[in-house]
Amino acid sequence: MGTIKKAVIPAAGLGTRFLPATKAIPKEMIPIIDTPMIQHIAEEAVQSGIEQIVIVTARHKESIENHFDYNYELDDTLEKKGKSDLLKISQDVAKMCEVISIRQKNPLGLGHAVLTAAPVIGNEPFAVLLGDDLIDARVPCTRQLMDIYEQERQSVIGVMEVPLEETSKYGIVGGARKNSKLTQVEVMVEKPEPKDAPSQLATPGRYILDPVIFDILRRTPAGKGGEIQLTDALQILAKEKGLLAFEYEGDRYDTGDRLGFIDATLAFALKRPELKSSVLEIMNKHLREQS
Ligand code: G1P
Repeated sequence: MGTIKKAVIPAAGLGTRFLPATKAIPKEMIPIIDTPMIQHIAEEAVQSGIEQIVIVTARHKESIENHFDYNYELDDTLEKKGKSDLLKISQDVAKMCEVISIRQKNPLGLGHAVLTAAPVIGNEPFAVLLGDDLIDARVPCTRQLMDIYEQERQSVIGVMEVPLEETSKYGIVGGARKNSKLTQVEVMVEKPEPKDAPSQLATPGRYILDPVIFDILRRTPAGKGGEIQLTDALQILAKEKGLLAFEYEGDRYDTGDRLGFIDATLAFALKRPELKSSVLEIMNKHLREQS
């Protein structure tokens, strides 16, 4: 198994948690400040060393492809007006990496979406990044996982500790600790009730996977919600080939949730030097009005 150069970003979901915004716009195109969520995810991949991103899309999601392409009309207008800063912003997205899109024609679940990317990934280990989770980290989360993969030569998923009452929102792992950050996964359960959770270690959607996962996904029956679950395939991978869970370092935001989205928006705004003091003033104004 070589080094990891390819990543899959599943982006075929309907985004019903964010209606009405997602009625005509893919949820992945909703911005945090001025940057679509999927661009934040693609940036994490590229900063981790990924060279080719496979986006699994669906009908009515063409704007995602357009976003990673050139917009000649816009670029031409910006050039003629001498707006070189804006021109750079527009063109940098098209230049950031090679993007290949492939359609998931039926909504059969996350596992099926990953399997849809198999013809493009081929027989190489690859990363998967889910678009609802933004992880702000000094070393990008995917890079942290790639480093573990390169040391251990085993598939690895990122995990974080969640409160017991939240286990039913995530894939949860259980297993034997190898050290303070690394667990050898023995079981993996999709969204268990707290009483059935094997631990409080949850995956926010960052995976480095051996390509054998495709063979496993082909024989994984529909699971929770009648969908082919990536988690169920990972459980088989853990048994047959080995799977590690790594407690990555970084702040994670669930941008698929309204409050998580607001949290991410404020956190990212406060990290922008040109916005920080004005945003703090706005926040203070609201705090005063509430007291
Ligand atoms: C998916 C996965 C789940 C994972 C979660 C992270 O669920 O199935 O295992 O923990 O993403 O956000 P979803 O949130 O898409 O229902």
